[in-house]
Amino acid sequence: MRPVELIRSDQAIHPAVLTNQRKRDVTLRPINANDADAIHNVVSNWQVARMLAQIPWPYQKAHARAFAEYVSNATTGADSCYFAIEDGCLNFLGMIGLVELTRVPRVGFILDRRYWGSGIMSQTLDVFCKASFRQWPADRIASGVFSDNTGSLRVHEKCGFRAIGKTRTFCSPRRKFLTHIDLVLNRPTPAGQLYRS
Ligand SMILES: CC(C)(COP(=O)(O)OP(=O)(O)OC[C@H]1O[C@@H](n2cnc3c(N)ncnc32)[C@H](O)[C@@H]1OP(=O)(O)O)[C@@H](O)C(=O)NCCC(=O)NCCS
Repeated sequence: MRPVELIRSDQAIHPAVLTNQRKRDVTLRPINANDADAIHNVVSNWQVARMLAQIPWPYQKAHARAFAEYVSNATTGADSCYFAIEDGCLNFLGMIGLVELTRVPRVGFILDRRYWGSGIMSQTLDVFCKASFRQWPADRIASGVFSDNTGSLRVHEKCGFRAIGKTRTFCSPRRKFLTHIDLVLNRPTPAGQLYRS
């Protein structure tokens, strides 16, 4: 496995990231404006969208274009970063990113419905969080899932996230408040054995 580094050239907030994972080679690279159609294909699937809190619905190509342009134009000091997850054939599988980088970074991810269940996101989240702790000084990474998102909860748990509470959070695509499980991953101890509680 190649070492994974979030390379921040010139303090730009969009680093190049490479991962080489066990079951399937996956590359993380910064989102660019040309990803808009691929993002739209993934997010416009209802099974994906219904698990997200704050996306417009119906999800239009214009939404994806605006998002791709916004994140690809982020400059030094931007408070978020997003990466495309690609396989060895450059298929766009999904996205992973961090927001609120200057506070408690919050991770989010989506995967094309066709690739669910093959372990891609478990591997990607683990590698991404480890690399993020190397890159940024935060003590913890936050996340959260709607309580009916069993797959995502499992992915988080396998990575070491633990539940710290529940809130009622509005789900834009479903147009209602749902129970949301708040999760946190603490920075690994220097010895690298256990996560701090
Ligand atoms: C969440 C998501 C990224 C998971 O991706 P994935 O590549 O399928 O995840 P993995 O294959 O790595 O792991 C899924 C795990 O959840 C388990 N799982 C999935 N659905 C499950 C269910 N309904 N009940 C119980 N376990 C379930 C799988 O068995 C697997 O666990 P295992 O490795 O112990 O067997 C993907 O489903 C997705 O994009 N969902 C829509 C968007 C989303 O929810 N984003 C996250 C918002 S918090």
